Amino acid sequence: MTAINPVTDLTLDGDVAVITLNSPPVNALSANVRQGLYDGFKAAIDDPAAKAIVLICDGRTFIAGADITEFGGAMAGASLFDVQTMMENSPKPVVAAIHGTALGGGLEVALCAHYRVAVPSARLGLPEVNLGLLPGAGGTQRLPRVAGVEKALEMMTSGRHAPAKEALEMGLVDELVEEGKLKEQAIAFARKLVAENKPLVKVRDNNTKVEAARGHPEIFENCRKANARKFRGYKAPEANIKCIGAAVNLPFEEGLAVERKLFGEVMSSSESAAQRYSFFAERQANKIPDVPDDTPLIPIKKVGIIGAGTMGGGIAMNFANVGIPVVIVEVQEAALTRGLGVIKANYERTASRGGITAQQVEQRTGLITGSMDMNALADVDLVIEAVFERMDIKKDIFTKLDAICKPGAILATNTSGLNIDEIASVTKRPESVIGLHFFSPANVMKLLEIVRADHTSASVIATSMKLAKQIGKVAVLVGVCPGFVGNRILGQRQREAQKLVMEGAMPWDVDRVLYDFGFPMGPFAMSDLAGLDIGWVKEKSNGESIRDVLCEADRRGQKTGAGYYDYDENRVAKPSPFTEKVINDFIVKTGANPRKVSDEEILERAIYPMINEGLKILEEKKAIRASDIDVVWQNGYGWPVYRGGPMWYGDQIGPAKVLEKMKEFQAKMGDQFKPAALLEKVVAEGKTFGSL
Ligand code: 3HC
Repeated sequence: MTAINPVTDLTLDGDVAVITLNSPPVNALSANVRQGLYDGFKAAIDDPAAKAIVLICDGRTFIAGADITEFGGAMAGASLFDVQTMMENSPKPVVAAIHGTALGGGLEVALCAHYRVAVPSARLGLPEVNLGLLPGAGGTQRLPRVAGVEKALEMMTSGRHAPAKEALEMGLVDELVEEGKLKEQAIAFARKLVAENKPLVKVRDNNTKVEAARGHPEIFENCRKANARKFRGYKAPEANIKCIGAAVNLPFEEGLAVERKLFGEVMSSSESAAQRYSFFAERQANKIPDVPDDTPLIPIKKVGIIGAGTMGGGIAMNFANVGIPVVIVEVQEAALTRGLGVIKANYERTASRGGITAQQVEQRTGLITGSMDMNALADVDLVIEAVFERMDIKKDIFTKLDAICKPGAILATNTSGLNIDEIASVTKRPESVIGLHFFSPANVMKLLEIVRADHTSASVIATSMKLAKQIGKVAVLVGVCPGFVGNRILGQRQREAQKLVMEGAMPWDVDRVLYDFGFPMGPFAMSDLAGLDIGWVKEKSNGESIRDVLCEADRRGQKTGAGYYDYDENRVAKPSPFTEKVINDFIVKTGANPRKVSDEEILERAIYPMINEGLKILEEKKAIRASDIDVVWQNGYGWPVYRGGPMWYGDQIGPAKVLEKMKEFQAKMGDQFKPAALLEKVVAEGKTFGSL
């Protein structure tokens, strides 16, 4: 064995040279890896004893892409382009042996091998679009040549990782080999290529599939149309599409030149900067300073849920989806039957759309049982209470859980804002109590706010974080305070939205500004969707608020065909003259002085107080770091990823400008806008929010 460099080895197995990369955690293409590949391939090509070359990786995965941490810095070592040219022009067959994930630059390297083999569990993809980028090492030109234009469009604009079997079907992989036998079977494959004198296949020369798409611009239009909502505001999807267009219409080298030019453009865009930040922010959120990696975990083999409503049912599905049995406890039989029925219907709907098989529906529903007896929770490892937001009810439940659940079981509440310390205080084991705040619909929404109470143990926190990952959630650890992180910040925006309407802006003005900013919908459209009557009690309603009047007029949101907006039969919203009159009447009644509110003011009034509240949260140590707040807002509240999150966005505007505006608002409208002490401090010290 020859050590080419600290991350690359070269060995000779008979007449097959094997280049092995070992650069944890994910064999990303750092300067060392690129140089190792370059020198390794050169040595293997120069070695007369080697007749073929296999490229394989140690550790959990094949190369998972360019090293994102190197972006923006000066490029050291061999260029990826040099490595690829050497591989593709090798006079000896090159085989890429793939396990784990071959992603981005990793797949682009593999596409310069003459052949690719993979184990069935491997996944392949070009996910650059999710970082606001496009594959910049020939992937935009090679993938369509292998997989065809439609498949390439779908994969590159979604960033999806295709399983090995699918990769085999599309020609991206030449052969599947047995799990655990990648190295020996890849070597055997390479040896066979030599014995059978197989050609050295260069993907770049294979034009059949791209030529088939020439003269069919509708392929591209269809992709744009089908994804218009998803692509809105992002630069990278269109840049990826244009590159594939170049693959179809231009010779390979010219296509590469288009790719290079557009790569430069997206790489320097603010959208990509925010998306790359978000990638690391999400991973950073997993790191809890006082909960070390080796904290003992509590095995979670069975979960209990209290409450078979929409929330309880959605939460249950998360666990059944990953094979963990769940028992749901309800007090009323009818509610239990209804809840279990809704779960089944949800699974069947997913199956009818092809998301899961009929067998999976059976299996998952089979994992969820119901009970009307809390004693059914005696053997669960985790119980999540998901009942009404009433402290007395929650305290009663936790008193019972304390008596019933086995020692060491995690006792979690799904409260969206009640004081978890108070809930924990009724148990003799507050160290086992934690908040697991799911967002509705709980089987769909990515965010999980994990709420640490005063006495929550490190093991309970570590287990909750790990479990979140297992069920596909993005978890953020927060502290106990009204509304926790997400809803507390939302409260600021909602308050300003309501106030702006009393000052002369219409609900559709506020919604339009926030939609244009990048949110999927504004606060009033959101209320109409959720139902204006959430928390509204008909008997107590006395026309004191705009909402009261709308609900009294049976304008309770989309479900009644009208709310803040009027809706047509296709649920398309139109500004409502009725609502406008209600608002104007209120303005007259309260003696307010309506004025023209500019779009700029709407945005600043909605967003700056959110940033300010984020700083108060950090001051009070209810979030560990500024980027955690951004992760919450991206994954739970539709903050556009290409704008990073409120704290990242605040840095782009500049902390000084945020402070100046908050002071201006405070002078005009009072202490609701009082700048956080931390905001003053950041500005005085010339820091950024990102440094917090
Ligand atoms: N560069 C640098 N670091 C990376 C990285 C990359 N491409 N991919 C992952 N990492 C780091 C993570 O930051 C994390 O570090 P940490 O432990 O210090 O937090 C560590 O590797 C492990 O990552 P995950 O926690 O995400 O591990 P998982 O096992 O859950 O997922 C993965 C592994 C699927 C590879 C996932 O990390 C991933 O999706 N990575 C990004 C893949 C990607 O986008 N590749 C394209 C890069 S851009 C490119 O290639 C441009 C080219 O076209 C020129």
